[in-house]
Amino acid sequence: MKQSYRRDSIIKTIFFIHLLILVSGINSSAQAQSDARFQLQNIDSRQSDNLDGLWSIIVDPLENGYYNHRWLPKEDGYFKNKKMETPSDLIEYDFDTDELLMVPGDWNTQAEKLYYYEGTMWYKTEFEFTPSEEEREEYLHFGAINYEALIYLNGEKVGEHIGGYTSFSLNVTDFLNEGNNVLILKVDNKRKREGVPTINTDWWNYGGITRSVHLVSTPKKHIYDYFIQLDAEQKDLMSGWVLMKNSERGDQVQLEIPELEVQTMVEVNEDGLGAFSFSANPDVWSPTNPKLYEVLLKTDKEVISDEIGFRTIETQGSKILLNGEAIFLKGISIHEEAPFKTGRVTSIEEVRVLLKWAKELGCNFVRLAHYPHSELMVREAEKLGLMVWSEIPVYWTVLFEHEETYQNAENQLKEMIARDKNRAGVVLWSIANETPLSEPRLTFLRKLAAIARSLDQTRLITAALDTQTRRAGENIIDDPLGEYVDVIGVNSYCGWYGGTPRSCKNLKWGSEYDKPVIFSEFGGGALQGLHGEDNERWTEEYQSAVYRNNIEMLKNIEFLAGTSPWILMDFRSHRRHLKRIQADFNRKGLISEQGVKKESFYIMQEYYNSIEY
Ligand code: GCU
Repeated sequence: MKQSYRRDSIIKTIFFIHLLILVSGINSSAQAQSDARFQLQNIDSRQSDNLDGLWSIIVDPLENGYYNHRWLPKEDGYFKNKKMETPSDLIEYDFDTDELLMVPGDWNTQAEKLYYYEGTMWYKTEFEFTPSEEEREEYLHFGAINYEALIYLNGEKVGEHIGGYTSFSLNVTDFLNEGNNVLILKVDNKRKREGVPTINTDWWNYGGITRSVHLVSTPKKHIYDYFIQLDAEQKDLMSGWVLMKNSERGDQVQLEIPELEVQTMVEVNEDGLGAFSFSANPDVWSPTNPKLYEVLLKTDKEVISDEIGFRTIETQGSKILLNGEAIFLKGISIHEEAPFKTGRVTSIEEVRVLLKWAKELGCNFVRLAHYPHSELMVREAEKLGLMVWSEIPVYWTVLFEHEETYQNAENQLKEMIARDKNRAGVVLWSIANETPLSEPRLTFLRKLAAIARSLDQTRLITAALDTQTRRAGENIIDDPLGEYVDVIGVNSYCGWYGGTPRSCKNLKWGSEYDKPVIFSEFGGGALQGLHGEDNERWTEEYQSAVYRNNIEMLKNIEFLAGTSPWILMDFRSHRRHLKRIQADFNRKGLISEQGVKKESFYIMQEYYNSIEY
């Protein structure tokens, strides 16, 4: 008994030192809020008002609501929501007589005239607020806004955010009125060369408040964030940390996992941080047993309840081990495109349709491309036993030598990890997709990989690469980035962007790394319902020939640890013009956007069903 106690206390000390390194430089809990490594965790478990619904909008392509005619920021822009007070007042905007848009949702698919719109959209909503007896903190929480947002409450700027796919919260306690409150956002989805992603992508630039908005209320002294994980090396040790706000040194949080009869007290330091580690022997999460435990974090003022799974993920040579067992990742890539109505996914029903199709395909894994999907999607995938590859949109040719671009990418990486760090289903953080070889690119991505590792040792780091070289009839995986990731993603379109479908079955692959490789993209396009010979581009027969021959190729790659063909469902893209066939849709889906499966769906399903777990 003495021995194990000693071991735990040593581990606890080591972990706590690690924790302090992780969060060094936080000298005030206020700073923790602006530090993207932490998030107001688990909104669903907190007291909140949902602000979703119809919001008033003003379409403002010239940003007239923000800049004056000298292109200087206005003191009294649209964010002041001014109203005429005398009959002669000159006010040339009025949210209340303008139009409406649904939040959450992209604007492109809500109105014909907004289909191609890229620019500033002003959003306004109003809500009532009643202060409580005791002092509390009030936060505005946004699931995602694409791409750049300025947030104003009662005419005062309360925050801003860049990045179209990560959630963030703003403490607005001091800006709220008792009674009526006016919340106005300036949302700008203009693509920028220095952006993340940059100016060109192969998906539609859906703009808007694309995920839910909540006003979240917490006790003055509250649990802000937490991380609980199964120790990477020891499956019978759990460790993690809690971050409190407005706390004092010595304040305590009780952590409980009732089903495991775990109850431990976590004491926080002067920064509100408390580390913990304790022995526990959970039933581990896996695709065949997606076990989640009720985890309770309690103070005398609040109870936060979460559903958390516990598992280990690691590599051993070219194998991926889940809970110490080799597993083949039978996956599919998915864009956040809603089935049937199209546009950004906004509802749990749409999430369930997409993930049901993935399960029907025989998947135990989904690659959520090319940006962090909603928390709805990640939590539902975990519940269904689907492992998740989650990715930041460092896509193609971002400006690798531009410091602001790097900071933006790092911030989005931190926000992605901060939101989903407790999701056992997430097993891979991806830092890039198809980025061209260069020293600046390697430096940029090496730094991102190091940041991800410093924040989270319980997941694998990966990137999707299209940089293999061709040597003596073989494709060789030799990208220098391979050195810095745990798992190498390979995007390769034999039979579509090169070669004939039949040439693929004999294509050989080699790798300079003794690391797992996931074929993160392969496939080809077909218009659902178009039939012909298998050498006729766009027919289902052609796509089927691409899949049959690529599957034969994959069977000969002994270091292959998984696949996520491109892609589950047809999705909208500005790059896909061919009328009659594409009509703004990338047709590489195994299923049409109207939910009709193509022949290749069944070819892929047969392959997955032939692979042991
Ligand atoms: C690339 C890219 C995808 C794109 C696909 C295609 O590999 O990663 O985002 O949609 O190819 O060309 O269809």
